[in-house]
Amino acid sequence: MIHLVMKLNALLFLLAGVLSPAAVKAQLKIGFYNKTCPTAEQIVQQTVAAAFRNNSQVAPGLIRMSFHDCFVRGCDGSVLIDSTSNNTAEKDAPPNNPSLHGFEVIDAAKAAVEAKCPNIVSCADIIAFAARDSINLSGNFSYNVPAGRRDGRISTAAEANANLPSPLSNATKLINAFAAKNLTADDMVTLSGAHTIGVSHCSSFTNRLYNFSSTSQTDPTLSLAYARLLQSVCPANSSASANTTVFMDLITPTKLDNAYYVGLQLSLGLFTSDQALLTQANLSAAVKENARDPGGWENRFKTAMVKMGSIQVLTGTQGEIRKNCRVINSGSLESPLEVFDNVHGEEFLREEIELDNQINSRANEKLASHFCAHHIYIKLCRQLALISELKCILPEPFP
Ligand code: HEM
Ligand SMILES: *[C@@H]1O[C@H](CO)[C@@H](O)[C@H](O)[C@H]1NC(C)=O
Ligand SMILES: *[C@@H]1O[C@H](CO)[C@@H](O)[C@H](O)[C@H]1NC(C)=O
Ligand SMILES: *[C@@H]1O[C@H](CO)[C@@H](O)[C@H](O)[C@H]1NC(C)=O
Ligand SMILES: *[C@@H]1O[C@H](CO)[C@@H](O)[C@H](O)[C@H]1NC(C)=O
Ligand SMILES: *[C@@H]1O[C@H](CO)[C@@H](O)[C@H](O)[C@H]1NC(C)=O
Ligand SMILES: *[C@@H]1O[C@H](CO)[C@@H](O)[C@H](O)[C@H]1NC(C)=O
Ligand SMILES: *[C@@H]1O[C@H](CO)[C@@H](O)[C@H](O)[C@H]1NC(C)=O
Ligand SMILES: *[C@@H]1O[C@H](CO)[C@@H](O)[C@H](O)[C@H]1NC(C)=O
Ligand SMILES: *[C@@H]1O[C@H](CO)[C@@H](O)[C@H](O)[C@H]1NC(C)=O
Ligand SMILES: *[C@@H]1O[C@H](CO)[C@@H](O)[C@H](O)[C@H]1NC(C)=O
Ligand SMILES: *[C@@H]1O[C@H](CO)[C@@H](O)[C@H](O)[C@H]1NC(C)=O
Repeated sequence: MIHLVMKLNALLFLLAGVLSPAAVKAQLKIGFYNKTCPTAEQIVQQTVAAAFRNNSQVAPGLIRMSFHDCFVRGCDGSVLIDSTSNNTAEKDAPPNNPSLHGFEVIDAAKAAVEAKCPNIVSCADIIAFAARDSINLSGNFSYNVPAGRRDGRISTAAEANANLPSPLSNATKLINAFAAKNLTADDMVTLSGAHTIGVSHCSSFTNRLYNFSSTSQTDPTLSLAYARLLQSVCPANSSASANTTVFMDLITPTKLDNAYYVGLQLSLGLFTSDQALLTQANLSAAVKENARDPGGWENRFKTAMVKMGSIQVLTGTQGEIRKNCRVINSGSLESPLEVFDNVHGEEFLREEIELDNQINSRANEKLASHFCAHHIYIKLCRQLALISELKCILPEPFP
């Protein structure tokens, strides 16, 4: 046995000598934790599913988190790192704070995974698994996630500001932002379909509602009925609506499907950057095709998520396996955090079982808290019925 290992080592040494460093660089692999932590993906899936049962909005939060992790320093979990006294981290840059959410779900998944196999599974991989699981839960389709990412040790707000595209972007800026990550214009249109679920704060689209141009108060490429309703939900100059959010896909707000593209063609795209997908013939052809063929979009979306998930990844011995996803490792191998994580992990699994038992009583609470959003939604549907043949579907069971 020892002999065989020595032979293997010698062989690897020889190979390393022959091949260039780039060629030996480890690749992401499906089933990367098969041997070292066989239940890792299952534990993440169970954690995300439990969080989703409590609050289905965690799904869009985690899908967006994967995008924001990968576009800043690659998919290295840097979006999870907390700011410190001498560093403002990515998560506190305006494109992330206060809108990016779901960090507690990643913490819970990490704690549960650490309880089973300490120091093995990276935070970067947990984000990629959690995004896949969120897609499965909200869209009922799934894909294999190549893994083996390592965690980065750097996270700055300045890099988040520089790399994350703004909702005010035109098509040229969007294409360039994706090209900077080796993603094509087609990938950009395909991935924008993620705006089929989730919500946005008023500040991301009020540019289209007030004082738009010298000739028009509202953006003329936005449905006027929709603009009026958005104005009623997001008043001008109002700090009171700082925390107000609206659904981004009016047709099926909580289902991950191709309705985003259908809405775009009905002037229901929410951001300037959504509308921008109709401003170049090449892009709008892709929008039309995605609206026409849901299965085709699903397949392209899965492929594009894997592609996005491989941007500038750290592998092999690069980076580290962070113990606490919010804090870079201190350098010492024996960290007191390990003990904390194990306790925390078991605690979470207990809570998960309790959550199952409580689900019926929680369902009522959830309906009550969502009543307001549904009320606005129904109003919006009535208004939209004036301008289109859209059949409005209620996002969740409604009394
Ligand atoms: C094409 C360039 C993109 C721009 C300019 C953009 C911009 C935005 C903005 C401004 C929001 C709303 C934030 C808020 O105000 O609360 C948002 C939400 C969201 N974005 Fe994007 N995005 C882009 C691409 C993507 C991609 C590639 C994905 C994932 C594959 C994605 C997934 C999401 C999701 C799921 C939400 C909803 C988040 C939630 O409900 O919390 N976006 N996006
Ligand atoms: C892990 O197991 C799956 C299923 O048996 C297999 O498809 C995959 O290639 C394996 N991955 C690795 C890295 O061993
Ligand atoms: C359930 O969701 C609510 C928000 O809707 C959140 O405040 C709470 O912490 C969540 N509970 C669990 C156990 O995840
Ligand atoms: C920031 O402070 C931490 C200790 O809190 C230190 O380890 C780190 O080197 C400092 N970073 C910089 C860039 O000064
Ligand atoms: C997708 O979700 C279904 C349940 O909705 C589950 O049975 C299946 O294992 C999930 N697939 C993956 C890859 O997690
Ligand atoms: C989810 O997709 C599977 C096929 O992949 C299908 O059999 C099942 O009925 C779907 N579930 C829902 C709730 O649509
Ligand atoms: C797109 O936006 C950039 C920067 O905001 C601007 O320089 C450029 O002229 C715009 N392109 C078009 C076609 O409007
Ligand atoms: C894009 O591809 C080029 C050529 O392979 C490579 O040098 C560069 O690092 C890649 N950029 C990113 C962000 O992956
Ligand atoms: C645009 O055109 C190029 C070739 O001219 C093509 O490769 C690409 O798929 C088209 N679609 C998009 C969305 O860029
Ligand atoms: C509206 O926009 C014009 C320029 O287009 C600007 O001069 C004016 O101050 C703006 N008014 C308000 C109320 O923001
Ligand atoms: C918003 O504030 C500007 C001045 O800051 C004012 O001119 C404008 O009328 C206000 N708009 C509304 C709708 O109150
Ligand atoms: C928005 O939320 C923050 C954080 O929860 C809170 O401090 C602030 O008062 C809220 N603002 C409004 C206008 O509700």
